[in-house]
Formats: sequence, structure tokens, C-alpha cells
Amino acid sequence: MSGARPNPTERAALARAGAMAAPHGPLVSPNPAVGCVLLADGNVVGEGVTQPPPGPHAEVVALAAAGSAAQGATAVVTLEPCAHHGRTPPCTDALIAAGVARVVIAHPDPHAIAAGGARRLADAGIEVVGPLPDDDPFRGAVAGALEGFLCAVRRARPHVTLKLARTADGHVTNPTGARWVTGGAARRAVHRWRAAVDGVLVGVGTVLADDPRLDVRDVATDHQPRPVVLDATLRTPPTARVVRPGTVLVAAPAAGDPSRQRHRAERLAEQGVEVRRVAAGPTGRGVDLPAALGALAELGMVSLLAEPGPTLAGALLDAELVDRLVLHVAVGLGDGPLDGALAPPPGAPWRTERSGGAGADAVVHLLPPTGAA
Ligand SMILES: NC(=O)c1ccc[n+]([C@@H]2O[C@H](COP(=O)([O-])OP(=O)(O)OC[C@H]3O[C@@H](n4cnc5c(N)ncnc54)[C@H](OP(=O)(O)O)[C@@H]3O)[C@@H](O)[C@H]2O)c1
Repeated sequence: MSGARPNPTERAALARAGAMAAPHGPLVSPNPAVGCVLLADGNVVGEGVTQPPPGPHAEVVALAAAGSAAQGATAVVTLEPCAHHGRTPPCTDALIAAGVARVVIAHPDPHAIAAGGARRLADAGIEVVGPLPDDDPFRGAVAGALEGFLCAVRRARPHVTLKLARTADGHVTNPTGARWVTGGAARRAVHRWRAAVDGVLVGVGTVLADDPRLDVRDVATDHQPRPVVLDATLRTPPTARVVRPGTVLVAAPAAGDPSRQRHRAERLAEQGVEVRRVAAGPTGRGVDLPAALGALAELGMVSLLAEPGPTLAGALLDAELVDRLVLHVAVGLGDGPLDGALAPPPGAPWRTERSGGAGADAVVHLLPPTGAA
């Protein structure tokens, strides 16, 4: 709000707040994982992160930790404090009541209901620094931790990271017949990623071919994402490993023999699977992708790791519903040109977010031209 910029101590506190908040994303979803650090004379006197609903927001946790030391302190927050009564009272009121003198904000709140926090604080006589400009690296850093929340607010759908594993010559299955295309290091990276999202998405083709569990293994986490299968006609066998409580199957309106469809849906529901019906895809095949993602947003999911086969992967890319593309390439398998296997989808000027390796495999993260949410 003021033209002032955060000082170096406040920037360090912002980095700390962002790092604290980042692992909390899926635990507090669909709320944003926010971090708050309270500084007095350059020292940390309280800090906190958003607690799982219906718990308090980061600012309230930090204020409680600081106690009377919050009087005259600077609050450094990754997201503009909320100014509305939701499940909890407005954070702006808590900051004003505690006597905070200055608030540094990295990212504005795009949510129409919750926005206006910076203005409210300024009107109460608090010095407000930020939200930071778009190109400020600290704003970019916290936006990463907030990407699911920001996408859900702006686009009414979860943020989608599409992961594809390929051989060097572009095949999606291992020519040796082995179950996986990539090695252990790449698969561990996938499990860490699963632990950071609300749902893991595949098409029914992958369920039928691989019978995956789509859970998090070998990673220390309190969070398991919900498996999501796009399965227009409920072909998922009731014996599939993904059939368990919490799994979501997105199906098209029941077609064909209605009693058979009902029977299938009931058998899946008996095992705790949630069946959501959305419109069929535009060609009459599969499910309508925007509608499917909208249904998942209604279930409170703001972030997905999509790990489908080529059919659904191609459809997500064609529909421009991919916010990040992660290519894992087994450079030792196949003999095609590697740059081809690592290339972005044709036609679109995708940007490299980062590239490197995972064990024997090459990894590249690509962002679409319009950027993530
Ligand atoms: N290398 C990798 O990264 C990787 C990852 C996963 C799987 N795979 C391999 O891929 C193969 C399976 O390929 P796949 O293409 O059949 O798997 P998939 O893409 O996961 O599943 C495709 C199915 O999803 C359903 N679907 C629902 N709505 C859709 C929509 N809007 N667009 C597209 N599909 C929709 C369709 O079945 P309905 O019409 O019946 O709904 C479709 O046949 C297996 O060999 C597996 O091992 C490789």
C-alpha cells in the first residue's frame, strides 16, 4: 500500500514464512497455506502457519505465540490477511487488536470475499508494505506455495501438474516389459510430489493396464492424496487397488443398461468410492474435462498430480488444462534422440521451469506460455 519495500530482515522473514508454509498446502486445502513471522527489533517474536480447517490462520497462530510482544511489532505474511468472517474471524481484526505497527505482504489475495485486507489495515493506521510487484522474486517464491489456491480461485479448477515418463525414443511403456519406465530416484520424486497435492489423477486405461495404488509410499507424510479416475462408463473393476475409501471416480451420465450401471456404481460406493457424474466429452467419449476438474474443485481439491497414459495426457494438453508438465525420461532406454523425448508439446512455446536429473533419468519441468495460476 505504501511505496516502501521490505527491508532485508523482512525479506529473510518472508523467505522463512514461505518455507514454513509450503509443506502445509495439502493439509489445509482448500484454504491457502500461509506463513506469518512477527518481528520486534529485527528479532522473531512469534510465527505460525495456517492450521487445518477449522483451525486458525497463520496470523492468529503467530500472534498467540508472540503474546504481548506483538504490540508495535512487524507482521510479515505470505498472503494478504483476510478481511472477512469465514470459518474464523478476520485476520486483519486480530492484527489491529494486537497493536501490530507494520505489516509486510508478499502476495495479494485474489479471492473476492477475502480481499481488501491491506486497505483495512492501512485504514486502521498500520503501515502496510506490499503486496509486492509481480516480478519481485519473493512474491514468485510464495506464489509457488499458493499455486493450488490461486488456480482454484481464478479458474474454479485445481492446479494440474502432468507427469509423463518416457523412454529416450518417446515410448510410455518399458520395452523390457518391466513395470516402470523410470528408475527409483524418479519414482521417489513422484511420491514426494503426491504427498504435496490433493489428488492423483489417471484415466481408467491406466487402472486397467497397471492396477496402480496411487498412494504415497516411502515418504514421511501425514497426507495421502485422493486417487481420482476419469472413467466414463465405470469400467474400473471393484477389485482394483485404487478402489478404496476416499477415491473419486468421475463418470459420464449413465448410458446403456441403467440397472447394470447402477449396480456398478453401488458396488463401488459400498467400498467407499465417491462417484461423481459430469457431462460426457464433446465427442461423446470420456468425460468432459473442464466439468470433471470443476467437480473436483467442488470437492475441495485445489491441486492434482496427473499421471495418466497417453490418451488422457493428450486430452489434457489439447484442452490447455495443464499448468506444469513434468517429463521424466529414461535416457538408457530406447535409442531415439534425447532432445525429442525432452521436447515440449509441439506448437506451444512452453518455458523451462527447471531441468536436471533423478538418478539415471533426465527430468524437465515445463510451464505453459500463459504461466501457472
Ligand atoms: N509412461 C507413463 O507416464 C504412463 C503413465 C500411466 C500409464 N501409462 C501406460 O499407458 C497405457 C494406458 O494408456 P491410456 O491412454 O489408456 O491411459 P489413460 O490415459 O490413463 O486412460 C485413458 C482413458 O481415460 C478415460 N477418459 C475419461 N475421460 C477422458 C477424456 N476426457 N479424455 C481422455 N480420456 C478420458 C477414457 O476411458 P473411458 O472413455 O472409458 O472413460 C480413456 O480410454 C498403459 O500401457 C500404461 O502402462 C504410462
